[in-house]
Amino acid sequence: MREFRREDFDTLWSIDQSCFPPGISYSRLELATYMRRRGSFTLVTEAPPTNSRPSAKPCTQPSGIVGFIVGEVGRRDAGHIITIDVVASARRSGIGSKLLEAAEERLRAANCRSVSLETAVDNQAAMAFYKRHGYFLVRTVPRYYSNDMDAFVLEKEL
Ligand SMILES: CC(C)(COP(=O)(O)OP(=O)(O)OC[C@H]1O[C@@H](n2cnc3c(N)ncnc32)[C@H](O)[C@@H]1OP(=O)(O)O)[C@@H](O)C(=O)NCCC(=O)NCCS
Repeated sequence: MREFRREDFDTLWSIDQSCFPPGISYSRLELATYMRRRGSFTLVTEAPPTNSRPSAKPCTQPSGIVGFIVGEVGRRDAGHIITIDVVASARRSGIGSKLLEAAEERLRAANCRSVSLETAVDNQAAMAFYKRHGYFLVRTVPRYYSNDMDAFVLEKEL
């Protein structure tokens, strides 16, 4: 895992496009704006070079990036996860958990006492993932997404 570099941007945007349906995925401008916001940070996971995993199936973007997370240190000691995206072929191998734990650690280090996020109400994988990580449901926001889908707001004490 490493910090985002500027040359990663196109790959991250294309991963986001593949992870979410239209209306929930970000436009390039939206993603760039969130990533540049004051207090925000982006962590990236790269797959090990394939020659160190001779039996591994090719499962990555050409860049080798298999996932990323965008978080932000907000006002009043509140952290926020803006997005977490793992390429479909690399899911259920702990990458999302490592990204989320690293982001939570970053927020703790910045004195955030809690972290919140939004997820589409039909995203069962995300709900199972966040439940596993100790997040609880705070409220529902009707028509949160531009495709009119409602969002659950989830939160966790840090
Ligand atoms: C949600 C997401 C980030 C999870 O990433 P991941 O790398 O697959 O997660 P992990 O392998 O660390 O999973 C940890 C645990 O979460 C739960 N979980 C994750 N995906 C799940 C699924 N599809 N169904 C049920 N439980 C799931 C399981 O308890 C899992 O542990 P297990 O594999 O030992 O059973 C990934 O599915 C993803 O990128 N989805 C598309 C984008 C998205 O929906 N992002 C979140 C909304 S903002």
